[in-house]
Amino acid sequence: MATNNEYRLLGRNMLYEGTRSISNRKSLLALIVGLVTGFCMAEFFILASPSHHSWIPYSGHIRGDVNDPHNSRALVDSFGPDEDVGKHEHVNENDTVAKQLYKEVRVLCWIMTNPKNHQKKARHVKRTWGTRCNKLLFMSSDEDVELNAIKLPVGEGRNNLWGKTREAFKYIYTHHLNDADWFLKADDDTYVIVENLRYMLYPYSPESPLYFGCKFKPYVKQGYMSGGAGYVLSREAVRRFAEIGAKNKTLCRADSGGAEDVEMGKCMEKVNVTAGDSRDSNGRGRFFPFVPEHHLIPGHTDKNFWYWKYIFYETDEGLDCCSDHAVSFHYVSPNQMYVLDYLIYHLRPYGLVMTPDALPEKIDHKRKETTEPKMALPPSAGNSSDKS
Ligand SMILES: *[C@@H]1O[C@H](CO)[C@@H](O)[C@H](O)[C@H]1NC(C)=O
Ligand SMILES: *[C@@H]1O[C@H](CO)[C@@H](O)[C@H](O)[C@H]1NC(C)=O
Ligand SMILES: *[C@@H]1O[C@H](CO)[C@@H](O)[C@H](O)[C@H]1NC(C)=O
Ligand SMILES: *[C@@H]1O[C@H](CO)[C@@H](O)[C@H](O)[C@H]1NC(C)=O
Repeated sequence: MATNNEYRLLGRNMLYEGTRSISNRKSLLALIVGLVTGFCMAEFFILASPSHHSWIPYSGHIRGDVNDPHNSRALVDSFGPDEDVGKHEHVNENDTVAKQLYKEVRVLCWIMTNPKNHQKKARHVKRTWGTRCNKLLFMSSDEDVELNAIKLPVGEGRNNLWGKTREAFKYIYTHHLNDADWFLKADDDTYVIVENLRYMLYPYSPESPLYFGCKFKPYVKQGYMSGGAGYVLSREAVRRFAEIGAKNKTLCRADSGGAEDVEMGKCMEKVNVTAGDSRDSNGRGRFFPFVPEHHLIPGHTDKNFWYWKYIFYETDEGLDCCSDHAVSFHYVSPNQMYVLDYLIYHLRPYGLVMTPDALPEKIDHKRKETTEPKMALPPSAGNSSDKS
């Protein structure tokens, strides 16, 4: 709130002179009303916008917020273990289908990071879920030998995130377009279950102009994908982005400013890349902009929280929130990445064995080329999984 200093700057010495006459008292009242109104409006705009002002703490939690951050500032000081936690194999695990998809649905993951986070955050992605990508790249503004980070020609900081994403996809187009079928952008505090991403993508052709993620409603007609939850582009989408969008400033923003995910969403729409539907056959989401606790616990945030206004598809709380084959969660601290790795890939209830559902049929993309939005509906052909 305004201090005495600010009052002095804003209203000269009104606070002191205000008592002298009625008209001065009115000015003082007007000043206070103005300040309060301004503050409230600022607060409104801050809460209404996820990416532009996300460093402002959100206090709309109804229950608990200890491990449930809503802005990147909350994780600024978190870091993981120096030593790796180690690894071991499971000889009885049947990974036949996962291995098949590793070959058939190749995923390149690129991690948005920055020099301050190489050690604190990015390194823990590399030691946990990053290893499961067919190819893993770290995009930064500086090199890092241990991380093998790529130095992109962009400045650092929030105001350059869009520029960094644009340069990252241009770099991938030039150097790695044939190394994968799908291209995932994630943050260094995103956790991804790569096997489930491949399963979701399996029916789609990488030659369709498509991208998937956690879809939000505003700013872009067909919706746009949350940056923090991560989003994945088909090879054709990357090609259109680099060959058409990134070369034409009437289609895609040419400077580095703006909200990264919104600019990407506008750009994808302009180059006719369809914003796909990533829900499973039960209508449960797979990409999440927060940690599981946030989505799972009913009434965890109040309904004025921006997420409820932004989310494209109607979304349940409780166990129906999230697919049994969920793909991503955001604001995951480095330590929690090891915890999730343990819970998802190691901890097993004895005697319960899950057999994977049959793979869905492939969608014939040639029949419905380009912008037909139906193409992006969730596959209901095998009616996969998730039956409760
Ligand atoms: C492993 O799983 C696949 C697919 O479910 C199945 O066909 C195969 O028989 C299983 N192998 C073993 C050794 O159980
Ligand atoms: C950029 O895109 C606009 C709209 O599609 C088009 O009219 C224009 O010719 C394009 N410019 C270039 C240089 O390709
Ligand atoms: C996108 O589709 C529209 C409508 O079919 C078309 O007019 C436009 O030229 C296309 N734009 C690009 C960049 O392919
Ligand atoms: C999948 O579910 C839909 C709607 O519930 C149903 O119409 C369809 O027959 C099912 N398909 C298969 C292959 O079970």
